[in-house]
Formats: sequence, C-alpha cells, structure tokens
Amino acid sequence: MIDQSTIERIIDAAEITDVVSEFVTLRRRGVNLLGLCPFHNEKTPSFTVSPAKGIFKCFGCGKGGNSVNFIMEHEQLTYPEALRWLAKKYHIEIEEKEETEEDKQLKDARESMMIVSEFAKNYFHRYLLKENEGRTIGLSYLKERGIRDDIIKKFELGFCPDGKDIFTQAAQQEGYKIDFLEQTGLTVRRDNWVADRFAGRVMFPIHNIAGRVIAFGGRILKDDKKSAKYLNSPESEIYHKSRVLYGIFQAKRDITRLDKCYLVEGYTDVLSFHQAGIENVVASSGTALTPDQIRLIRRFTPNVTIIYDGDAAGIKASLRGIDLVLEEGVNVKVLLLPNGEDPDSFARSMSASQLTEYIKANETDFIRFKTQLLLGSTESDPVSRARLISDIMQSIAVIPDAITRSVYIKECSKLLDVHENVLYTEIRKILQKENEDQQRKDIREQIKTKQASALVAEKATIANPFEIEEREILRILLKHFGREIFEVESDDPNEPVLLTVGQYVLGELDTDGLTSNSDDINRMLDIFRENCENKDFEPARFFINHPEAGLSKMASDLLSEKYVESKRWVKSGAFVEAEADILDLLVPRIVQEYKLRKVKAMLKQIEKKIQQTSTDGDFARIMELQNQYINLKKVAKYLSEQLGFRAIN
Ligand code: CTP
Ligand code: MN
Repeated sequence: MIDQSTIERIIDAAEITDVVSEFVTLRRRGVNLLGLCPFHNEKTPSFTVSPAKGIFKCFGCGKGGNSVNFIMEHEQLTYPEALRWLAKKYHIEIEEKEETEEDKQLKDARESMMIVSEFAKNYFHRYLLKENEGRTIGLSYLKERGIRDDIIKKFELGFCPDGKDIFTQAAQQEGYKIDFLEQTGLTVRRDNWVADRFAGRVMFPIHNIAGRVIAFGGRILKDDKKSAKYLNSPESEIYHKSRVLYGIFQAKRDITRLDKCYLVEGYTDVLSFHQAGIENVVASSGTALTPDQIRLIRRFTPNVTIIYDGDAAGIKASLRGIDLVLEEGVNVKVLLLPNGEDPDSFARSMSASQLTEYIKANETDFIRFKTQLLLGSTESDPVSRARLISDIMQSIAVIPDAITRSVYIKECSKLLDVHENVLYTEIRKILQKENEDQQRKDIREQIKTKQASALVAEKATIANPFEIEEREILRILLKHFGREIFEVESDDPNEPVLLTVGQYVLGELDTDGLTSNSDDINRMLDIFRENCENKDFEPARFFINHPEAGLSKMASDLLSEKYVESKRWVKSGAFVEAEADILDLLVPRIVQEYKLRKVKAMLKQIEKKIQQTSTDGDFARIMELQNQYINLKKVAKYLSEQLGFRAIN
C-alpha cells in the first residue's frame, strides 16, 4: 500500500499537461489546451486540458478528471496502479505502508497473483543469470541463438530450474501461498502432489500494457517430440490470452511515435526486431488476431503491418481473421518474407534501417495481397472465379471508410479484370444484406434498451430529483468556499463577524436539516463541514485529487462545466458580472431555490398522503397533515417572493 504522503507527492508532481502530452498532441487555446480526444474517435478536437485546474475534460464523450484519472482511463489501470505508473515517470520512490496481517488478507486475489508473478519473473531471471544450471543450460541456449544481454534484460527472460518443484518450494519459503501459485499456473497441483509447470524451460514473461507480469511462455530446450515447444500460462483472473499482445509494453511508446505497428508471430520474432533496433512490434503468440487485440493496437495507431514467414502454410487460414481487423478501421498491410525466412532469422540478417527500408518497399496493402494470393491459386473456371470475387468483396465491404473502399474497388477491378460496376453491385449486395441483419439486430436491441432505460429513468427520478440544485450548490462551494460574503452581528458591535460562503451555505442547509438522496453529494457536504474553519482547505484541489472516483469525477465535472458561470445574470439583458463579485446576491438565491424545490416536493407528498388518508377516514391524521400543508405553503410563498417569482402552484 502506498502511504498518503507519497500519494500527495505523486499528485503534486503529475502536472496534467505533462502527463496528457505523453499521449495527446495539445495546442494552446486561451488559458486551456486543446487536442483530439484519445478516448473516442473524433476529427475536430473537443478534448480540453486546464493546467490551472489540473484537469482534463472531453466535451465530446464526457470523460474528465485529474492526471491520475487520465492514466487510469488511458492505460486501463486501477487507482493504485496509476499512481505507481506516475511515480515511475517522475522518479518518486514509493514508500510502502507497513502491511498488517489484515492488509495482506484484504489485498484481492488479482493483486496477489500479480505479486507472485513478479516474484517468479525475478526468480527465473536471477536463476538464468546467476545460477550454474541457468547459465550452462538456459543462458548458453540464448547466447547460441545470438540474443544479446541487453535484450535478455529488457524482456526479463529467465530459466525455470529443471526439477520437480524447485521453484514452487522456493516461492513457498518466501511466503507465497500455494493457492496463488496454482491460480497463476506456475504450479500444477493434484491432491497432495505439486510440480513446477515450467521446469527446465527458458522463460518469457508476458507483460500487460502497464508493464506488470501477468503470464509466461516457456520454451523447452530438449528435443522432445512429446512435449510442446512452448508452454503458456493458463487463462486466469489476470491473464486473458485473447486480450494480450506479447511485447505491447515494450512497444507502445514507439508505436505511438512512429504511428505504425508491426505484427509478428512469436516471442523470438519480437526479440529479434528489438535487437535489430525496431521496437514498434508485437506478437499475437501463434494464434489468429482477436478483436480485443486489434483494439489494443488501435489505441496507439491505425496502421498495422502483418509480417508472415515466407513458408507459412497458415497464411490462407489467417486471411479470414484479417477481415476483423479491417472492420475496426485499421489499415492493414502485409509483408511476406522470402522463402525460408521467419521474422527472427530475417531481422538478424540486416540492420534496423535496412529492415525498415525492406518492409517499406515490400509491404502490400492487404486487399491487393489477398487478391493476388487467391488469384494465384484459383483455377480459371467461372464458379471458383465468382467465389473468389465475392470473397474479396466481402473484405472490402467491411472497411468503414467509403473512399478507401472505392480505391480498393478500382484496384481490384484491374487485378481481377472485372468491370468496376460489377464489383460495386457485388458490394452493394453484401452491404444491403448486412444492413438488413443489422436492422433486425438494432430492433431487438432497441426493445431491450427501451425496457432498460425506462427502468433507469424511473430510478433516476426516484434517486435524486434535486440533482441540478445540489450540483449548483456544490459548484459554488468548490469555487468560492472560503470567500467572505456577509457581515453578521456579533456581541461586539464594533467587531462584526464575516461569514464565508461555506459557513453560510452549510449553516442554511443544517438549520433546515436538508440532506441529499445521493451518497456522493452527502459525502462531499460532510467534507466541507469538517473544513468549515480550515483556512488552508482548497476544495477544488482536494476533491479533484480525491481517491474515490465518484467524488473526483463530480468535482472535475462541476469545475469544467463551461457556461454555468453567471448564466442566470445574462437573462435580464444587463452586462455579465463576474460571479465572484456578486456572491452576496447569488449564493442566497441558489440556496433559496434549492429550499423552494424541496418544499414543493414535500407539498406534493403531503397532498398524496392526505388523499390516501381520506379513504380510511382518520380525521385527526388528516387535520395534522393539513396543518403541515398550510405551514409549508407559507414557507413556499415566502421563498417565492424572496426569489421574485409571482405565484406558485
Ligand atoms: N506457440 C505456442 N505454443 C506452441 C508453439 C508456438 O504458444 N506449442 C506460439 C509462441 O508464441 C511462438 C509462436 O507461436 O513464439 C510462433 O511459433 P514458432 O514459430 O514455432 O516459434 P518461434 O517463435 O519461432 O520460436 P523458436 O524460434 O524458438 O522455435
Ligand atoms: Mn518461428
């Protein structure tokens, strides 16, 4: 656990512009900065960063918050993970709080699994470099393959001792629980028998996007036909194979910088590319690409080049998968290596610039690649030709962008020697059919969401009908909490007391016993109450950086709402005054409007109760309710007059 003072140091260091700039190109626009939102697709920038407030806000998709929230969202991390990420960036050493037995138990299973994986990675790495067995067997194998020390370190390669359960025992001695060793798949357990899954293998740790180890691949060194060459960690709470790409952590910076991602097949291909100086490369680890993996790449670039072995038999099989990639709006190029080469051997044979040049010169866009490939293997009979055409048109039809589609159609028309119009007709047929399928699906969805949103709407109105007023009050408190607005009389007539916005607002709410239906709002009000006399309290900073996502989100939303300020004063046609200058008028008004809304709601409730009670004829109760009603009506009338409203209903 990270202690509070370290958290504060991290938050202080993580300047919002600096953090966001790592991923988004920002341009200055007045006091703010503007860029393209990394969280949704947009062509005109609506993503705003306010250095003064320390927050970002996208007016397109609504995402917003402080530096920590940005990293959480962008890197898909939890709050403590995001803090660690920032600590690393700003070279802040993390002071861990002394862990109690209770803390240890509280840590959830996922965290424990990552911790045990981290231990395993360090253990295997040390074993490879320092222990006799590791050096003579594992390290010498890697050396023989020409893998350099810096690459071994960068990818934290290791070796698992060749024995029954040497690793498992070592881990248990260090206090790691057998449950987590088993859940991560590092240890295989049956009744009362345990074994190391990866015994005798060279270890490739698999990192998540944040650089934490979540799984391993282990390569066997013996020539053993019965065992798989690579053994991988099983699916687990922390490892979902279909959502992970090997090397993404080491590659993401260069993928963004170069706006390009190379996709290779395996672990060793990734290593060789790095060794050759090319770092924007990831591997799908021997399986067809999944939509989740594509989206992972798409977060950093839309440009992907898939690199195939020259002798890969599976190319045709993998073509199907690529339609999925096209559907995500990714530009796919393909590079077929010369016969007999795989990315590993090929990268080894040349320098980084030669390799980059070669790829540039030889990569073909996917549609042309597919067309040529299929064309080469199809007999010329009309039936298989027709099938070929419709197959290729299927790939083109899924491309979201119409202009890109038409470019491909033109090209295929030449390659296939078919008139463009014929191809357009084919595409139209495919799209039409898809449209119909989609419509049917949409209708089903609509029915479902209608039912769901009816429920939500019902809940929302029940949950908090006063949200607008309450948010307005919170916004005023966030911005003007400590400002003095009123003089009030005190015992010493020469020494009038000045009331702050906070004291006034909270005093008013407390006198009338007003609370919110929303837990978050009540929590914020409580924190304001606790700090009523605290001169150093900076509410905006405090809440924006609050570890509870609900509070920090609300604060940053309230502070970035563009046009709220002074809006109500424009109506009269008078010039707009700065909100801060008219707090003595504005704040009481906001509080009274809130009270009036509350009173009206209570009146409605009493009306209802009176009706209900009338049917069971409890006259005493009706009288009581009617008295309440009359009194509240007076309050409502008074408030309305104060607010300058003519009548109330
Ligand atoms: N793979 C796997 N399990 C296997 C075989 C392969 O998970 N039994 C995955 C690995 O990620 C591997 C990739 O598929 O890296 C490509 O397989 P292959 O080309 O056979 O391995 P290489 O990476 O070339 O490894 P090496 O050069 O060590 O043979
Ligand atoms: Mn290979």
